[in-house]
Amino acid sequence: MLEVKGLSFSYGDFSVEDVCFEVREGEILTLLGPNGSGKTTILKSIYGLLKPKKKCVFVNGKDFHSLSLKERAKLAGYVPQSHHPPFPYTVLDVVVMGLASQLGVFESPRKEHYQKALEKLKLIGMERFKDRPYTQLSGGQLQLVLIARALVQEPKVLLLDEPTAHLDFKNQVKVLGIVKRLAKEEGISAVMTLHDPNLASLYSDRIALVKEGRIRAIGKPNEILREEILEEVYGVPICILEFNGFRLILPRTEVV
Ligand SMILES: Nc1ncnc2c1ncn2[C@@H]1O[C@H](COP(=O)(O)OP(=O)(O)O)[C@@H](O)[C@H]1O
Ligand SMILES: [Mg+2]
Repeated sequence: MLEVKGLSFSYGDFSVEDVCFEVREGEILTLLGPNGSGKTTILKSIYGLLKPKKKCVFVNGKDFHSLSLKERAKLAGYVPQSHHPPFPYTVLDVVVMGLASQLGVFESPRKEHYQKALEKLKLIGMERFKDRPYTQLSGGQLQLVLIARALVQEPKVLLLDEPTAHLDFKNQVKVLGIVKRLAKEEGISAVMTLHDPNLASLYSDRIALVKEGRIRAIGKPNEILREEILEEVYGVPICILEFNGFRLILPRTEVV
């Protein structure tokens, strides 16, 4: 279980203040908010890529940031928003790189490491791409490989930054479906950032609405995705339609 207790971080002219939430085993919590609201900053601060002002992140009761890199990698995996492949490594090699913190400086990955990587590629349905150069993948495939790379350490928590950015409709659904399956079948807790309220509504157990570096509200999608609060967070008139138990969130635009 992940607990974030009073996370604060400042870039100088932008700051994240007093972010608090808990994520249970197998739960998906989405940080939802407009561009520039601080979602990535929160996620990076949780993982320790940015240094929060005080001790504030606990995984299974352990102070996450005081752990070694190796111990941290076993507890949490981070899937960055974008990753530009510098070299045409194979897909399997990229996934094995997720085990870097478990290997010594001059130690090469062994058979068991490749087996573990293959197992994770299988889990997300990407096994057949294992020998493909990473530079030749589509956006959706790349995102899945990054998820496999984070999974190879078998973390309890996955942190995913805009996992659907730049993906088409089908791939958005595919990637989020896999995150959901990992949560429900493997018991992995997921914290992801999204800027689309409809996707957040469909795939989250709970949503934290982020505005100007603060959590404006947190709760179940149906409790929290309300017109007034979304209008305040996004700064546009919003209309919510209910259809067959689904809620469709739309900007209320003037047709000219
Ligand atoms: N490296 C940085 N240095 C200074 N300011 C930054 C840096 N990265 C992001 N910011 C600022 O922090 C704010 C929040 O950014 P970010 O967390 O990336 O938002 P989001 O992920 O919600 O789009 C923005 O105003 C952005 O300009
Ligand atoms: Mg971001």
